[in-house]
Amino acid sequence: MVDSNSRQKIVVLGTGGTIAGRSALVNDNISYDAAQIDIESLTHDIQGLKSHLDGYKLDFEQVAQVDSKDMNFAIWEALARRVVQRLAEPDVRGIVVTHGTDTIEETAYFLRSVVCADKPVVLTCAMRPASALSPDGPQNLLDAFSVVMDANACGVVVVCAGVVHAAEHVQKIHPYRLDAFSSGDAGPLAWIEEGRVRWSLTQMPMYLTSRDALTLPDSGSWPQVEIVLNHVGATGKVVDSLLNAGIDGLVVACTGNGTVSDALMVSLQRAMSQGVKVVRSSRCVLGRVIPVAGALIPDSRGLSPVKARVALMLSLMD
Ligand code: SIN
Repeated sequence: MVDSNSRQKIVVLGTGGTIAGRSALVNDNISYDAAQIDIESLTHDIQGLKSHLDGYKLDFEQVAQVDSKDMNFAIWEALARRVVQRLAEPDVRGIVVTHGTDTIEETAYFLRSVVCADKPVVLTCAMRPASALSPDGPQNLLDAFSVVMDANACGVVVVCAGVVHAAEHVQKIHPYRLDAFSSGDAGPLAWIEEGRVRWSLTQMPMYLTSRDALTLPDSGSWPQVEIVLNHVGATGKVVDSLLNAGIDGLVVACTGNGTVSDALMVSLQRAMSQGVKVVRSSRCVLGRVIPVAGALIPDSRGLSPVKARVALMLSLMD
């Protein structure tokens, strides 16, 4: 048992995103390049950082430098390994991962699924580039450090705009607002107020991982799982094309409580008869597909389509 007072280091892993973005004009928060500034430089100009850290040292690593629309399995594999390795160091208090907002929820859910984190792993981001007149990244970083330093924190969470979200529930719900994330019906885990973390629960939930990051197969051989959408006039053509191309699993972003058009259902059944695993999620932003005993296609147990895809992919690994 390690004395938590001996954990004096916070590891900061950079992966890119708008938080590391730069634009030509300080008042341009749209036409900028994400993933430009190295992770250590992001903290250089944060006023009050030293006193905020209260003696904790930061240890930086650039794991990747991408716009998160281009996040990929190879980076996920490398990131998960580094998270596991760094968490195992006795003097590490926890980890902050900087990430683009666009797919942070998928990376958070992936890490939560493959890392048994008894220390905090806090993903954070920004909606404005670092070069903006009033960037949100520095405050989000300070908030992420506050969560790592909090005595009750553990597990994989996402911090943005003063709110702590569970990896399981967080979703980007707005393309522009600084407060772009929601935990939906579940609500936030906590709020960060002037450096203090106010938990909505007395204790962080302990998550059960489904895979061990250190025994994942090579990322080049991860199962091929795609997402298809039910919508007005949905045919099964997309599914049929995917079957021809070769896939291992399909997540359906269903209408409402897990429904699909008759035509799409025919193709899904064909896919299942060929050994493709199919899972139903809902395209509704809130709530979940209500489980029904004996349903032909299993539901995603409350996971959004993109997270159901991660869960199905992990479950299909040898
Ligand atoms: C990205 O996801 O990398 C770009 C968008 C953002 O971080 O807000």
